[in-house]
Amino acid sequence: MPEDAVTMDKIVALCKRRGFIFASSEIYGGIGSTYDYGHYGVLLKTNVKNEWWRSMLSERDDIVALDSAILQHPRVWEASGHLAGFTDPMVDCRTCKERFRADHLAERAPGLACPRKPSKPPGEGPDCDLTAARDFNLMFKTTVGPVEETGSVAYLRPETAQGIFINFKNVLQFSRKKPPFGIAQVGKSFRNEITPGNFVFRTREFEQMEMEFFVPPDEAPAWYETWKAERFDWYQRLGIRPEKLRLREHGAGELSHYSSATADVEYRFPIGWSELEGVANRGDFDLTQHALFSGEKLEYYDQPTGERYVPHVIEPAAGADRATLAFLADAYDEETVEGELRTVLKLHPRLAPVKVAVLPLVRKDGQPEMARELFAALRGTMQSELDEGGSIGKRYRRQDEIGTPYCVTVDHQSIEDRTVTVRERDSLTQERVAADALLGHLVARLSAPWRSPKLA
Ligand code: GAP
Repeated sequence: MPEDAVTMDKIVALCKRRGFIFASSEIYGGIGSTYDYGHYGVLLKTNVKNEWWRSMLSERDDIVALDSAILQHPRVWEASGHLAGFTDPMVDCRTCKERFRADHLAERAPGLACPRKPSKPPGEGPDCDLTAARDFNLMFKTTVGPVEETGSVAYLRPETAQGIFINFKNVLQFSRKKPPFGIAQVGKSFRNEITPGNFVFRTREFEQMEMEFFVPPDEAPAWYETWKAERFDWYQRLGIRPEKLRLREHGAGELSHYSSATADVEYRFPIGWSELEGVANRGDFDLTQHALFSGEKLEYYDQPTGERYVPHVIEPAAGADRATLAFLADAYDEETVEGELRTVLKLHPRLAPVKVAVLPLVRKDGQPEMARELFAALRGTMQSELDEGGSIGKRYRRQDEIGTPYCVTVDHQSIEDRTVTVRERDSLTQERVAADALLGHLVARLSAPWRSPKLA
């Protein structure tokens, strides 16, 4: 397939058609750039998050987990700098009443178009009338307490990271870890983005997968390199093609207020190269700020050496929705098979929402009963589906479109000799397997090393 055959429109259409992700509040006309995840979307995004947890927790012994509250003390956002500095410069168009990010306009960000003349960027259409740029804070504000007027102001967290810093002391006490060690968290964050868009790439409510790695100050530069390499590699281990990924180091003018070095893992989305994840050297900024604002000592005391220091922090910060979109885009393929176009998601088996579908060839002669028996034997071990209705071709197409790596077909021969065919999604090869050995066969194939068939 030519590279540009994967378009955002095709991904959006597939996600809606197969119930992965769809516009939220549709029966009320929708609410801009807000999405709901359906069954397969939930399974896929959960697998993405589980793979992240696996790489952070199960495959290492220097990181612990945390799940902090979304609502935090408002002083947290003063200390972190978000109240004063988490702003984007915004520009309004007096003609079309749309709002744009001034930096996106300046860099001519992909996908930005004048709503009245989409062939032109905003500001360059014949009727465009842009205001000067003004700063706009991206935090969602709410009130805590029963009466809005007297309640206290609170903010929905714009990143999960601060929940980790404010718990540094707690975690240090119970985890029996010493630097270098990390605290990992997955959860919702909220930003009142001026220009959300490009499906789930940029939304106002999204999930982050963040890990703060606390290190002795002189080790920070080396750990920064380690985490850049590890995070770059993670996407490839899960099947993303290397030519679609790059690491881009930020220039000095681009760095966040807390960062001394940042690199983005970028993916070549259908909208162009865009950030997938950021890896930052945050230095001692956050712990120092929270110590100052809270009055608590946030440092590490090494008893054997008597050394006391504020650890520096290396932070890989990824987005679960954005990563899900990248995995979908990278897996999307169209092929002509026996004269028919098939759309297929060539997802890594560990990410695939459903691992196996059991399909009786016809709805008679004992085939549905045998299919149900096999389905019951498989579903406790792997996400499985039983699909009894419609032509076998249509059922295969459906499973291809949701990325199911294996389809097990029960046919006439199955009833005679208790064997079934196992069809592989990518190669379309079919193998006859004894029904009683099916579970072991599938477990072995699903856990075997996997390489994207889209790789040259
Ligand atoms: N704690 C650092 C931090 O939050 P960030 O680069 O602003 O850094 C990290 O966010 C990741 O979160 C991004 O690389 C992206 O994957 C995801 N993300 C950020 N804003 C998002 C949005 N509006 N919609 C979807 N994902 C977003």
